[in-house]
Amino acid sequence: MTAQLSSCSFFFLLLLFVFTSPPVAMARRTRFLHLNFYLHEINPGVPNSTMIFVVNEHRSSGFGSVLIFDNVFRVGVQPDSPLLGREQGLGVGSNLQVYSGITALEFIFTTGRYNGSSFAVFGTVTGGAISDRTIIGGTGRFRMARGYILGRVAATTNTTTTWEMNAYIAAHRS
Ligand SMILES: *[C@@H]1O[C@H](CO)[C@@H](O)[C@H](O)[C@H]1NC(C)=O
Ligand SMILES: *[C@@H]1O[C@H](CO)[C@@H](O)[C@H](O)[C@H]1NC(C)=O
Ligand SMILES: *[C@@H]1O[C@H](CO)[C@@H](O)[C@H](O)[C@H]1NC(C)=O
Repeated sequence: MTAQLSSCSFFFLLLLFVFTSPPVAMARRTRFLHLNFYLHEINPGVPNSTMIFVVNEHRSSGFGSVLIFDNVFRVGVQPDSPLLGREQGLGVGSNLQVYSGITALEFIFTTGRYNGSSFAVFGTVTGGAISDRTIIGGTGRFRMARGYILGRVAATTNTTTTWEMNAYIAAHRS
């Protein structure tokens, strides 16, 4: 009986904690999203390229080079797959030793349920198999976003690079 009572009051205290503690209150206003899409780049220096070097230092590490881009991202890997939006920003060669760049960019949705919303990404891309960058904020349906975005090369031609992207986002409910 005593054991039952005390487990009862423990349960009550637990409930009280769950419904009043700030992290849980915050969690109830947060939604977690996983977005999968494909980023289509047309390499610098070819017709209709979506990336240009504004500075090209021609070092093997890329150090000192500056690249501006306006790439599209789509539902799938095929170039004619439905459009989702545009990825706009810049990359700066920032490593003296290995090929690597720090990027600052925004994924801006132009169709679908996230039309007009965007999220911002900051972080380093290296020659490694998977890029892992930080989602640092967002607008519209991605307000207060934080999370991370992984990228891996899914297809290449002599003029294009297509990346599979997986974004894991915590954002305010809207
Ligand atoms: C470049 O874009 C134009 C206009 O969309 C298109 O007609 C042309 O075929 C494209 N060129 C290449 C090489 O993709
Ligand atoms: C996306 O939003 C813009 C601006 O509100 C609007 O003009 C456009 O028609 C929308 N596109 C789609 C596909 O919903
Ligand atoms: C890419 O390959 C195609 C053939 O698949 C060729 O016609 C074209 O000239 C090549 N472009 C470059 C920039 O090497």
